[in-house]
Parts: sequence; C-alpha cells; structure tokens
Amino acid sequence: MPYYSEDDIQRVIESNDIVDVVSEHIELKRAGSNYKGLCPFHSEKTPSFMVSPSKQIYHCFGCGEGGDVIGFVMKHLGIEFPEALELLADRTSIQLEKESSQENNEKNNKRNRLFDLNRDAARYFYNNLRKNRVAYNYLLNRGINDNTIKAFGIGYAYDTWEDLLNHLKSKGYQDSEMADVGLIIERKNKSGHYDRFRNRIMFPIINTKGKVIGFGGRVIDDSQPKYLNSPDSLVFAKGNNLYNLNIAKKYSRGNDIILVEGYMDVIALFNYGIKNCVASLGTAFTPNQAKLLKRYSNEFYICYDSDTAGLKATDKAFDIFKELGIDVKAIVLPSGKDPDDFIKEYGKSAFLRLKNNSLNFIDFKIHFYKSIYDLTQLEGKIGFTREIAKTLKNVKSPVEVDAYIAKISQETKISTDAIKNEIYGGTNNYKNKTNPKDKYISNKYRNNNRERIIPVKHNLEPGHLNAERNLLSLIINDKKIYAKVKEVFTPSDFLNEINRQIARLVYGMYEEENSVFEDKIINSFEGENLEKVQSIINTNIQLDDREKIKAVDDFIGKIQRYNLKIKKDEIKKQIEEIVSNNEKTEGDEETFKLLCSELTRIERELKFHR
Ligand code: CTP
Ligand code: MN
Repeated sequence: MPYYSEDDIQRVIESNDIVDVVSEHIELKRAGSNYKGLCPFHSEKTPSFMVSPSKQIYHCFGCGEGGDVIGFVMKHLGIEFPEALELLADRTSIQLEKESSQENNEKNNKRNRLFDLNRDAARYFYNNLRKNRVAYNYLLNRGINDNTIKAFGIGYAYDTWEDLLNHLKSKGYQDSEMADVGLIIERKNKSGHYDRFRNRIMFPIINTKGKVIGFGGRVIDDSQPKYLNSPDSLVFAKGNNLYNLNIAKKYSRGNDIILVEGYMDVIALFNYGIKNCVASLGTAFTPNQAKLLKRYSNEFYICYDSDTAGLKATDKAFDIFKELGIDVKAIVLPSGKDPDDFIKEYGKSAFLRLKNNSLNFIDFKIHFYKSIYDLTQLEGKIGFTREIAKTLKNVKSPVEVDAYIAKISQETKISTDAIKNEIYGGTNNYKNKTNPKDKYISNKYRNNNRERIIPVKHNLEPGHLNAERNLLSLIINDKKIYAKVKEVFTPSDFLNEINRQIARLVYGMYEEENSVFEDKIINSFEGENLEKVQSIINTNIQLDDREKIKAVDDFIGKIQRYNLKIKKDEIKKQIEEIVSNNEKTEGDEETFKLLCSELTRIERELKFHR
C-alpha cells in the first residue's frame, strides 16, 4: 500500500472542488448557498443530497451518508482510498509524491522528463534573449531591468520554425514529448513538427515546487495574438496554477498577495519592489486558483485592469473568493490603466496608497455598478439599486446594511423604504410583474407608478399554502430543523405575505436569540392574520427526526415547484405580450429571446423537480 503525505492529500482535496466532482456524476442544482440532487446512495424521488461549496462536503439528509470529495469518489465508484486519491490527483494534474506501484512510477518518470524538457527549453530561451538585441531592447524599453529578467527567467524564442525543436532534439528529447507539452505542433500534412513560439518574449510559468510547467509568449511587434500560452498538458493545468506564485509565496509569508491580470503586471510591480503578486494564466480566475492562494496567505487584493472587462472580472473573482469564505479587497486603478501603466507613471508609493484605500466587497459593488448603470436616468437608478440590494441581502450585520442603504438612497434619491423593500421582499416578488423591462422594480416603487405597471395577482394554490404553513410550524417547533433549512430556504422564499413575515421574525429570533418566542410572533399580528398565525404555531407535527427531515424536503420541493409554475406562467404572459405587440423594438426582440430561454430553463427544472 503506497503512502501519501498529508500535504499531498490536502492538495488533492483543495484542487478538486466537490461541487465540480459530484456534478460529473449526478445532476446538481443550486439551493441557496448549497447544491442539491438526488442521492446516489439510496433511492429517492425528491432530492435530499446536499453539497456544500463552502464546507467542501456532501451530506444526504435521507440516508445519512456524507464526507469530503475523496470520500464521495470512493463510495460512488466503490474504490479504495489510494485509487480515489490518484484519480482526483490526475483530474487536476497534481503529482503525488510517494507512490510505489509500477504504473505510477512510469507516469512519474514521464512527468519528470517533461519537467526537465520544459526547464531545458526555458534555459534555451533565456540564453537567446542575450543574443537578440531587438528582444532585449524591447524589455529594457518597457523598463524591465536585468535583475528582474533573471528573477523571472524571461527569454526569447527565435523567429524560425524549427529552432527549439532542433535544440531539444540534440538534448535527446523526442518529438512526441515536445508535442506533449505543446512546445511544438504537428504540421498539417503530418510531415513533421514546427515550433509553437516564434519571435516572442518568453515567460516560463513555474509552479510552487519550482518546476517549469508551461510558458507564456508575447509578441514584440503588433502581430496577433499578443499572448500565446502553452496548452494544458500532463504537467500544466491553467486553472490550477498562478503565474509567479513560486516567488510571491516567499514574499507574502503571512502577509498579503495581490492578484493581477497579466504577466507584465506581475513583472512591472516586481521591478518596483512589490513582489507578492500573481496573475491568473490567460483564463478567468478559478475557484481552484483561490484555494491554491489560500494555502499561502489570508489577505488578498484584486488589482485588475481598470476597464469594463477588468471590473467585470474583479466582480467575478470577488464572488469566487467570497464563496470560499476568503476575505479580499479591490485596488481600483484610474480608468483605463493596468498595474504596469500605473506603477510606471505614478511610482511605488502611489500604488501602496491605492492599496491602503482598497475597496471592500460592497464598496466595490457600488463602484462597479456605478460604471455600468447611468445614475442620471431612472432606469439606471433602478438597475443600480436592484444590484446593490442583491449584495446587501447577504450582509449579516444590520447596522452595516442600514449604513449602505442610507448611502445608496443619497446617491440615487430612491427612498430608503423602497431600497429596503427591494432587499427584503426581493427574491420572489416576480409574482406581480408584467412588463419584462420592469422585472426588478420594487413593489413600493411600482405603486407610485400605477399608470406604467399593471400588477397581476396570483392566487396561491391551497396545496402550496399548506406546504408553506407546515414547513413554518416545523421550523418554529424544532431548532434542528431550522439549522438545516436556513441555508436552502430563506424567508423571501415564502410566497404568502403573512408566512413571509412570520418567517422573518422566526429566522431573526433564531439568529439573534437562539430560540423562538411565540409571544413575540403573536404580538406582531392582529385580527384575521392573528388567527392564521396561531394555527401555524399550534400545529405540532408529530414525527421522529428522520421523518421530519423527509417532510421538510417534501414541503420545500412542493413550494419550489409552485414557485417555478408561477414563474413559468408569468414568463408565458410576458412572451404573449411581446408577440401581440405590433410595434416591436429591438429591445423587445432581445427580451423575447431571453424569456424563451428562461422558459426552457424553468421547464427543465420543473421536470427535475417532479
Ligand atoms: N492574455 C492571453 N492571451 C491573449 C491576451 C491576453 O493569455 N491573447 C492573458 C495574458 O496572461 C496577459 C493577460 O491576459 O498577460 C492580460 O492581457 P492584456 O491586458 O491584454 O495584456 P497586458 O498585461 O497589458 O500586457 P502588455 O502590457 O504586455 O500589453
Ligand atoms: Mn499592459
């Protein structure tokens, strides 16, 4: 039995996101902050199999199975620990240190040869740079000094077709090996190979163990593409590595790490003494990259280019970090600049000042959405408020939320009440929406604009109302149930107004006081509503724990099904409206397309819920 280091096992767990892995075997669907699907370990019709991206575990409330990603693969494929570990290590191109079987030795030998090959190529490029004035001057002109060239091992690939190929051949490497790491490409007529990188500045990509795993190459003229990267290979997986983490980890040592977009950003910052920077490798930042970073620091900054694409990418990266519970801030550069431009123009201390003034998640969202929406226009204000409301919904501290509501209200002149309504009544208030363009306007606002928006009332079906009531009484009477339900089912998921109000009170009490005080609920209602509330509280469903969990699942399933049905009706109505409208605009066409694909999505989801 081979022995594996704890470190390697951790690496395998961290680089294999459990949601991705499980999704390769069973169909998962988002449910609040978790994912849900039909349990593969027992037979069931309604999903009670949950996967938590933040905890990186799975658990089935039906049969009690649970564990981490390796456990899932073992159980699901019926294999032993070493086999599961190796399978997952392969999946993310991780090299396991201690392996003893024959097959693994062969694979390791092959990997090691590819590492050597890459290293020899990097050395060759590095030496070429000294011999080519144009390439060398290109770097000098960009302000890159010799020390920096050395630190990064920057090189140059000649403008010829078989130069590297011949060099590596003379060192004893096979064509097939060079092709495996993408340094050469097979000719179309299969008569041989040619070099992938020609007339390019070469940046070796080195992993945290000091191995050269791939290259990025930049043109020194205006030809295209500007950057070319090694393809993924047995030794290189772009989404699981970061450029310069090998150096940044040494300089961060418990301090922060800055994430930037490009090779030249990392290098320019290094050149100015800021050495704790990494870049994602020509792909969007991935959860695996975030997990990798987490191994080396607890404090992160995103400093992407200050253009629309950069802001969008920052927004996505924020979400990825947040999802993993990692704290991160954004360094916002003046519009149109990247870190390389900025540090050259303004210097190191200006950059560090910006870093000191970096934005937290919410402030970044405000900055970002301000750049997207036109706050001088009504539509823009609404869009902006809607986005910020979505963000604030997830903020735990009420004081913080209030402060931001005041800030947003001041900026947009939308009343604090309307914003609150958007936050707390938001998720499912599609039930009285008609005009697709006004899809996200809050109810408060809607009432002030009756002439523009015609509300549609949905009568909730009795089955649905019963499910909501029963779910509520289960939650009220059992804290354990609340703890299980709160992640997947929030107060705004209750469609009935009274039920929603009760749920808010109950969730609030559990969070703040750790138990439910029935008097408090009762005192908040009167008349006809009070009777309804009392009947919910008094319904005490007599079931054992297991049955309760099953019941909760059924109720949630039922409610979600109703929700989807209502949504579907609404979308159908909107589609009909557009179809029957004679003066269609281009925007309508766009909306029409969106609505149709949304309809298909819902129908698919409904099928899944059945
Ligand atoms: N990139 C890529 N392929 C491209 C363009 C970009 O892989 N065709 C990746 C590279 O990793 C690059 C990063 O995206 O470093 C950022 O691209 P860009 O902002 O266009 O380049 P800069 O970093 O500004 O590079 P330079 O200053 O050299 O122009
Ligand atoms: Mn640049």
